[in-house]
Amino acid sequence: MTTLWHNAKIATMTRATAWGLIERGAIVTDDASIIWVGAEAECPAELMSHITVRHDLERALLTPGLIDCHTHLVYGGDRAKEFELRLQGASYAEIAHAGGGIRSTVLATRRADDATLFKTGCARARLLMAEGVTTLEIKSGYGLTQLDEARMLRVARLIGEALQITVRTTYLAAHALPPEFDGRADDYIDALNDWMTALNAESLIDAVDGFCEHIGFTPSQTRRVFARAQHIGLPVKLHAEQLSDQSGAALAAEFNALSCDHLEFLSAHGVQAMQNSGSVAVLLPGAFYFLRATQLPPIQALRDAGVPIAVATDHNPGTSPCLSPLLMLNMACTLFRLTPEEALRGMTVNAACALGLAATHGTLEMGKRADFAVWDVDHPHELAYWFGHNPCRHIVTGGKMRER
Ligand code: NIG
Ligand code: FE
Repeated sequence: MTTLWHNAKIATMTRATAWGLIERGAIVTDDASIIWVGAEAECPAELMSHITVRHDLERALLTPGLIDCHTHLVYGGDRAKEFELRLQGASYAEIAHAGGGIRSTVLATRRADDATLFKTGCARARLLMAEGVTTLEIKSGYGLTQLDEARMLRVARLIGEALQITVRTTYLAAHALPPEFDGRADDYIDALNDWMTALNAESLIDAVDGFCEHIGFTPSQTRRVFARAQHIGLPVKLHAEQLSDQSGAALAAEFNALSCDHLEFLSAHGVQAMQNSGSVAVLLPGAFYFLRATQLPPIQALRDAGVPIAVATDHNPGTSPCLSPLLMLNMACTLFRLTPEEALRGMTVNAACALGLAATHGTLEMGKRADFAVWDVDHPHELAYWFGHNPCRHIVTGGKMRER
């Protein structure tokens, strides 16, 4: 089916001009693919003669569908009590040391049945979609047994199928040490590496992640996880330099990581390693805000080095219970001083790179997937400007208009 989407302002997010902006633009899609984008007046007559469906977008703004490239969307329970403890002065690390934090969500996730994980995960994904999201990364990491990690990854795949959005799954068994392995972190790495091989054989894993931190895993343990991922052909990414400098980004860069995420404590050496490996820097203003962090990621150094910057919600119950990608665009500007264009590139083209989807997602170009968001604003910089207001009219995934 050849469809014309016209009478729109289009922010293609290609590099040609600022925002890749086309004032009076049109897009032609053939089923799930974009087959033409340009000024409406220049659409070839031959192509127009094949149009079977037309959508008048009434001067709305069209952008690529937003890509939330770092989420922990599938889990049981919540951590609102822990939030109160932190407000009374307890730190995230202290709560983790006392057996709370990630471990408490692990217990709640193990207790939740698949139907509950699916239902709550879908509800959260729908809220992201309501603000323009058409592609989503979902990490495991709250199961920490082979069975429970598999359940999380299967639920993540099912959410993608049920909601007709692109979901990329990331295996994050190296998130925290489960109670069964207390005092035996290296044995746990052996175990999770074997589960990785088994779950990969079931095609449940698109990438492998870890939490390299004093309250997570050491660089040498992380290296062993990455070595297994590399051995079985899976790309890696890393929660790096969130609470301290562990040289995690440099380690991840050795394995050509798709991305290094958080990066508040990234050193100049880490920036250089990321520049050389081409890894994307994924900034997570929600976690920065919610943990009341003060150490800013080295934004200007990343810019100067030409490291692509992405922005994501990091949705999770502990450090970022945020379901608003638009608020993250705003906070990327107010807290991290990105420009509105950098912020939107961070949730479109650069987020696609962070997921290994650069060839198919993230910009509005011929040959790419027909995933876009339609907004009631005059200019794309407004997407980072308003907060607490959602101007998303609807999304289109795979060339199909989705009602809200
Ligand atoms: O991205 N830092 C590690 N992982 C998550 C938090 C997980 C949790 O606290 O449940 C993050 O911040
Ligand atoms: Fe995270």
